[in-house]
Amino acid sequence: EILIIDFGSQYTQLIARRVRELNVYCEIHPFHHLPEITENIKGIILSGSPCSVRDEDSPTISIEEWRGKLPILGVCYGAQLMANNFGGSVEASNTREYGRAFVDDFDSSNELFNGVSQNSQVWMSHGDTITKLPNGAKLIASTSAVKNAGFVFENEKTFGIQFHPEVTHSTDGVKILENFVVKICGCDQSYTPNSFVETSVAELKEKLGNDKVVLGLSGGVDSSVAALLIHKAIGKNLYCIFVDNGLLRKNEYQQVLESYQGLGLNVIGVDASQRFYAALKGLTDPEAKRKAIGKTFIEVFDDEAHKISDVKWLGQGTIYPDIIESVSVKGPSVTIKSHHNVGGLPDFMKLKIVEPLKTLFKDGVRLVGKSMEMPQHILGRHPFPGPGLGIRILGEVTAEKVEILQNVDDIFISGLKEKGLYDSIWQAGAMLLPVQSVGVMGDERTYESVVALRAVTSVDGMTADWAHLPYEFLGEVSNNIINKVRGVNRVVYDISSKPPATIEWE
Ligand code: XMP
Repeated sequence: EILIIDFGSQYTQLIARRVRELNVYCEIHPFHHLPEITENIKGIILSGSPCSVRDEDSPTISIEEWRGKLPILGVCYGAQLMANNFGGSVEASNTREYGRAFVDDFDSSNELFNGVSQNSQVWMSHGDTITKLPNGAKLIASTSAVKNAGFVFENEKTFGIQFHPEVTHSTDGVKILENFVVKICGCDQSYTPNSFVETSVAELKEKLGNDKVVLGLSGGVDSSVAALLIHKAIGKNLYCIFVDNGLLRKNEYQQVLESYQGLGLNVIGVDASQRFYAALKGLTDPEAKRKAIGKTFIEVFDDEAHKISDVKWLGQGTIYPDIIESVSVKGPSVTIKSHHNVGGLPDFMKLKIVEPLKTLFKDGVRLVGKSMEMPQHILGRHPFPGPGLGIRILGEVTAEKVEILQNVDDIFISGLKEKGLYDSIWQAGAMLLPVQSVGVMGDERTYESVVALRAVTSVDGMTADWAHLPYEFLGEVSNNIINKVRGVNRVVYDISSKPPATIEWE
């Protein structure tokens, strides 16, 4: 495996995903909390960082321990750190070096650049530049603006590159990472979705034996794939609980329940809508609504779980980004919204936790699901927030408003699917606004609700752009909604990006 040492770059997870795409296992560890270097580790990648090596308390590690023993690749800050620590110099650059650049002087005889074309496009993102190479290093790449864009220590497998091979804008980036990981470090490319399923199932069998496991299904990809893996290992000893909180999409409860049963899972469906509506009564503040929904979920789940005798474990769909220890170089980030995720563990349920997906990224989860033949309608599902329509009805939630919004959402989402637009969008839905507006239908004046449609493109939900849906399509959907859904006489389309807006309205 490969060890990726994180200095806080926004791209660190991307390096890990690229390495995984090469079917090589890797882990990210923060620079201040490194694991023991065992013989499983075949090479080290040093990430970028928002810091400058010229700052007094900039993050650092003792690279000399590994030099000559393990292959090392320093990316951006990682390369600057090596220059700085080993007799080179790093200075603030006087020209801006962000974005596209072309390497006009690749040393293609170097094994790192094997098969990389001259003049290949790379992506730069740095404020500092290496003005003098470290002692014993040889130049292997330059661009017109950055002379020292790549170096190698002579007679060692220690490399530094100033550009980011992990971003897709670096045309031959994957090739460079492949050269490093496979040719230079000698990792075999055996970490595939199938091998993951095989090893996980064996490990789960060993760990769980004849114990019973309870797991909360949400209808989303993560909990579904986690359930299928555990089910493969222990069959009917896995008890899945799927709660209808009354805030799901139209007909979703029934459909999801049926598809889970079709997969052979042992699913207990619980219709708890009224309990959730009662808990939400009178609440208008988004965080208060989230808390009420989260608390009710735990109560309902706990009641059901207690009906199963002798449960020992709680299964969860936690994925790698949820547990990677983050490097906080610019102070702790503030909570903008408290994201309640299905399956929080109440203290009074003394269960052990099993999280079979905790080493996977989202794309890995999908691949593993696919290799277990999970149907596309579950795998390709848009993300949907745990509190569901509860945070898409602005203001107080009532059963009547839920029904209106379910119908609106259904017209929008079915339309996207019919027109083949669904898969190109990251997430879509509708918001019911606490606003009435005047309209005219026939000869009648109406005074009814406004709904906002939202569709965004994104890779991870952290940033997003509004989807440029065809006007024709938006027109049709708007017409359908106003004609078919009682209580709505106006439809607007949200054209804000994140940041500064967020995807949800609450
Ligand atoms: P925002 O609105 O923060 O949303 O841009 C980013 C992603 O998170 C989802 N989201 C939630 N998911 N519980 C969840 O499980 C929540 O309370 C919650 N709030 C937002 C949102 O749907 C989007 O995918």
